[in-house]
Amino acid sequence: MVIPDRDFALELLRKVRLPFPIRQHSINVANKAVEIANNITKAKVNTRLVEIGGLLHDIGRSVTHGFEHALIGGRILRERGLPKELARICETHILGGLDKDDAKKVGLPEKDYLPETVEEKIVCLADKHMTGNHEVSIGERFQKWFTKYGKTSLLIKSRKRIIEMEKEIKKLM
Ligand SMILES: [Fe+2]
Repeated sequence: MVIPDRDFALELLRKVRLPFPIRQHSINVANKAVEIANNITKAKVNTRLVEIGGLLHDIGRSVTHGFEHALIGGRILRERGLPKELARICETHILGGLDKDDAKKVGLPEKDYLPETVEEKIVCLADKHMTGNHEVSIGERFQKWFTKYGKTSLLIKSRKRIIEMEKEIKKLM
């Protein structure tokens, strides 16, 4: 697996015309993800994969802001011959990841899109901690979503999954 460098990733985001605020968000997510990765002592983490995955996780938003942006992002990276590990980070970063039932609910092909590797989990978690350009707790992040979309079963389930994910990552520190 050859992970491209930061300049390549930032240039790619410009090339696909990802809007500026989302590029800023992506830089913040990448920084947060690297911060989490640097605190992990009990597992081996590919920090470069985490950093570049953080930068590219929302690349699908150059096409749509709907849930499909995760899959489209994965497709953009695969089509450009980038490592599947980066594509997987795009595909699994939405909410706390989506299982088959969640995917069906939001109109995606019925499949699990759950973060599995430590790098996938770190980027998913870092993304939940970054709303726009400031850091929030998982509680605050979901409260904002509850206010906007209501306390839906999808969001409640997702919050539970993210809380578990955060516990799991903290155990590795
Ligand atoms: Fe996203």
